[in-house]
Amino acid sequence: MECRGIIFDLDGVICSTDEYHYQAWKALADRLGIPFDRERNSLLRGVSRMASLEIILERSDRSWSAAEKEALAAEKNARYRELLGRMTPADLSGDVRATLEALRRAGLRLGIGSSSRNTPYILQRIGLEGFFDAVADGSCITRSKPDPEVFLKAAELLGLPAGDCIVVEDAHAGVEAAVRGGFACAALGDARDDPRARWHLDALSGLLPIVLPAH
Ligand code: BG6
Ligand code: MG
Repeated sequence: MECRGIIFDLDGVICSTDEYHYQAWKALADRLGIPFDRERNSLLRGVSRMASLEIILERSDRSWSAAEKEALAAEKNARYRELLGRMTPADLSGDVRATLEALRRAGLRLGIGSSSRNTPYILQRIGLEGFFDAVADGSCITRSKPDPEVFLKAAELLGLPAGDCIVVEDAHAGVEAAVRGGFACAALGDARDDPRARWHLDALSGLLPIVLPAH
């Protein structure tokens, strides 16, 4: 394929906010007395805030009204944003920074495709506000990953067909979304070994020999 654009998931690919998601959900689950651990947390990767809450509440022994669920999601998000507030540009790893800069120098179109409604705040915290050519996030979609909507939106904003873009993901739901949308997918982290991905990366810089063969 001729790769002209790259669409990155945000949480777990560009930055390690996935740990903050875990801490914030864990605090909520503990308060409610609902069993929740890191293994169960991996089911939440890539899926929307409300879908994540539903997965947590599956282990609850009572039912919750829509208004109660809204309040629980807001409680988690307030704690999560408090943790995000501690992030600085120093939280962007050297590997991620160097990779983004090399891709930018090579003239590739770069976008974000994230389920998170906190995407603008996170990009601002880590000093990447305005860096990407396109940002599609949880606030401009109606269907969360594994639906491909957010990646198709990002490709549209980049002005490229899906077949000319690579999606980079750390979540199984995100790999599925990419493949369903017609994108080639590079997987890392939690989803590194997902067989639906075309490439399996140990770090983001593993993209460079794929898209810049002369690198
Ligand atoms: C994704 C995360 O990027 O965003 C999920 O992988 C999270 O774990 C989702 O639930 C929604 O995030 P937010 O910031 O809108 O609550
Ligand atoms: Mg992710």
